[in-house]
Amino acid sequence: MKRAVVEAPANIALVKYWGKRNEELNLPLNDSLSMTLDLTVKTEVTLSREFDRDEVYVNQRRLSDEEVKEYAGRVMRSIRKVAGDQGLRAVVRSVSTFPESAGLASSAAGMAALVWACNEALGLGLDRKEISKLAREGSGSACRSIFGGFVLWKKGTRNDGSDSYCEELFPPSHWDLVDVIGLVSDSKKKISSREGMKRVRTAPTLDSRLEFVNRTLPKMIESIANRDESSFYELVMRHSNSMHSVIMDSWPPTWYLNDISIKVMEIIYAYGKAAYTFDAGPNPHVITSSSRADEIENLLRDAGARRVIVSKISQGPRTLEVG
Ligand code: ADP
Ligand code: DP6
Repeated sequence: MKRAVVEAPANIALVKYWGKRNEELNLPLNDSLSMTLDLTVKTEVTLSREFDRDEVYVNQRRLSDEEVKEYAGRVMRSIRKVAGDQGLRAVVRSVSTFPESAGLASSAAGMAALVWACNEALGLGLDRKEISKLAREGSGSACRSIFGGFVLWKKGTRNDGSDSYCEELFPPSHWDLVDVIGLVSDSKKKISSREGMKRVRTAPTLDSRLEFVNRTLPKMIESIANRDESSFYELVMRHSNSMHSVIMDSWPPTWYLNDISIKVMEIIYAYGKAAYTFDAGPNPHVITSSSRADEIENLLRDAGARRVIVSKISQGPRTLEVG
């Protein structure tokens, strides 16, 4: 029996991943860029040939076999291959340190933690680049959670995904920014990212979004390198808008934002010294310098947020126990 306990972070995409060139391997249509957050999941993995199936518990809830199959199951398939042991099965217990109701993607942190823990428990000796590829197979955005600070996921061009992995562009200490997250809805999202990304293939404006991403990603990186607030904030907001516009352009009708999200977009744009960004849900993530976190928190509460979480930029996964 092999065992490890690890912690892995969530991340917020500044240049969004939305659309795949390969659904099995989670190979994206475009490069994306994220900030690693200090919101983490803690995962214990036990591996043995004695178990008869992969079992996953998230916040004490046992996932159904179907849920396991499309996420942790994909990771375990690859881990068995790398370990050269087809009989190996895992029991995974994961708890998040942030509220479940936050609607924050826990699959990204969860898949990052799972691969990190298997690598440690089995002593596979994989480097971060290889770990990020395996995490990607579980959930695309998880590959970015293997690094800290500002992280770039290169989409790659090969069919086998061997060149689709992440790298750290700038460490957490590079820029004193925070993500101020407003919780505006508890309701479970209507359409999973996985389903939403299938639908985006129908969007007539998808090609122009991809052209926008290719043209402006280098500018986003430059604005981070120079800590150029005004250019960075504008680009972050426009990248969020760009993803949500192809979502609205998808068929069948698809959207994630609600009336509070739209109100926050107006307020933050008018505020000037911050940027909003939204993933596949209505909760605003407001990126700003740490000195303005309190002011933003008040603005979000006035706009209708019931709870606010502030996260600084953080490191990648950590190993807590092996054996
Ligand atoms: P998302 O995080 O992408 O918004 P969910 O939270 O609904 O979506 O998670 C999608 C799937 O990811 C779940 O059905 C489960 O299989 C897997 N998952 C989520 N969190 C974890 C975790 N902490 N550990 C292992 N698997 C997880
Ligand atoms: C809106 O990584 O959850 O958060 O690869 O199908 O598991 P799968 O999708 P997932 O999608 C994340 C979408 C997003 C944008 C982003 O994080 O880049």
